[in-house]
Amino acid sequence: MDLMEKVVSLCKRRGFIFPNSEIYGGNQGFYDFGPLGVEMKNNLKRLWWKWMTIEHENIVGIDGAIITHPKVWEASGHIKSFVDPLSECKKCHHRFKQDDLKENKCPDCGGELTEPRNYNILMETSLGVIEGEKVKAYLRGEACQTIYLDFKNVLQSSRLKVPFGICQIGKAFRNEVTPGNFLFRQREFEQWDLQWFCHPSEMEKYFEYWKEERMKFYQDLFTHPENLDFFQHVKLAFYAKKAFDIQYKASPFDGKEMEGIHWRSDWDLSRHGEYSGADLSYTDPLTNEKFIPNIVETSGGVDRTFLFLLVDAYCEEDDRIILKLNPKVAPYKVAIFPLLANKEDLVKKAKEIYLSLKSGMAVTLDERGNIGKRYYSQDEIGTPWCVTVDFQTLEDNTVTIRDRDTAKQERLPVDKLTQHFQNLLK
Ligand code: GAP
Repeated sequence: MDLMEKVVSLCKRRGFIFPNSEIYGGNQGFYDFGPLGVEMKNNLKRLWWKWMTIEHENIVGIDGAIITHPKVWEASGHIKSFVDPLSECKKCHHRFKQDDLKENKCPDCGGELTEPRNYNILMETSLGVIEGEKVKAYLRGEACQTIYLDFKNVLQSSRLKVPFGICQIGKAFRNEVTPGNFLFRQREFEQWDLQWFCHPSEMEKYFEYWKEERMKFYQDLFTHPENLDFFQHVKLAFYAKKAFDIQYKASPFDGKEMEGIHWRSDWDLSRHGEYSGADLSYTDPLTNEKFIPNIVETSGGVDRTFLFLLVDAYCEEDDRIILKLNPKVAPYKVAIFPLLANKEDLVKKAKEIYLSLKSGMAVTLDERGNIGKRYYSQDEIGTPWCVTVDFQTLEDNTVTIRDRDTAKQERLPVDKLTQHFQNLLK
């Protein structure tokens, strides 16, 4: 099995990710997050939200609707330009995104490829119930459009002044013609976006600032930060003036995009102003200068980050599988074991410790099998610390704490545990 197969298998086996509609044979490009997956994903989203909004006095958040007025996608340019150029192999009829082709022949059978054809990947739906009166609408192809639509509302309902930022974590939908590579290219996925509104003269400065800041965010999360890199786009999206990706450069992804930092200039607000008739300009309260704010966008994939983090943390030592996840991201922070499952006093004490830690952090109680199997099982899901309640605990109220990555053990009084783990999680 290669690394990707191992990660996919672990995700299913341990309840991180399930194929959507599996009992019906699956639903290509759609996945469900299982009990451990949703814990880890929520951890990620909380970290991002704290880093982006709570720690910045001039950034606020919104949570916009998935379906907007259909004209939004005309104004944004997506109806015309949100296309994937695809080539088909004349021999095996497999289809490939132009971006994925290294040479002009079929990567599967070497056959000749057709000229690329453009497919629009906006996902359509219809509003209303009466046939003939239904209105065509779109599931948002990128989450950021709702931020532009709410730009004026946020400005008028807060005391923010340009420069300021609006954040959002939300779903986006794309009718990808070639979904695949597990969570990497899905048809429904989640994005975390910052749209930073600034004066045109400050665009370059903030573009550089956010590029570096976002890299720091990811470097702090990854087990191997050296696997992250910037990639500068030469071929730009239809709205972008300058674009960098933060990419994951290790195998099996070898330089695939996790987040895009885009210089969107005044494209979005100008177009929405033009199509809606609304005045989306800003007047500086000090200078009275009126201008359309320029936008630096940082738009990342929550699911891609999730996937790259798993791949980056996956490790095998002898016959052990270890997910060396950053403790802040790991689904459980601590697992608590009674040394023996059939000793009532040990089980009772372990439950007591579990209950005392549970309100402050995600913890789990494990009584199955022997200690070795329990360590193995927790290592495989990335739990950074295991606490064992043994006979000495009943005498002196101390427990052993075993560290996932070093396998080192230390003994600590039970009443110091909460503080101990909270310090480690800072
Ligand atoms: N608003 C800009 C925008 O949407 P993008 O580069 O198309 O830019 C941003 O998307 C991020 O969304 C990507 O870096 C990637 O992490 C994630 N993403 C894009 N398409 C995806 C897909 N089909 N499946 C999973 N994640 C995707």
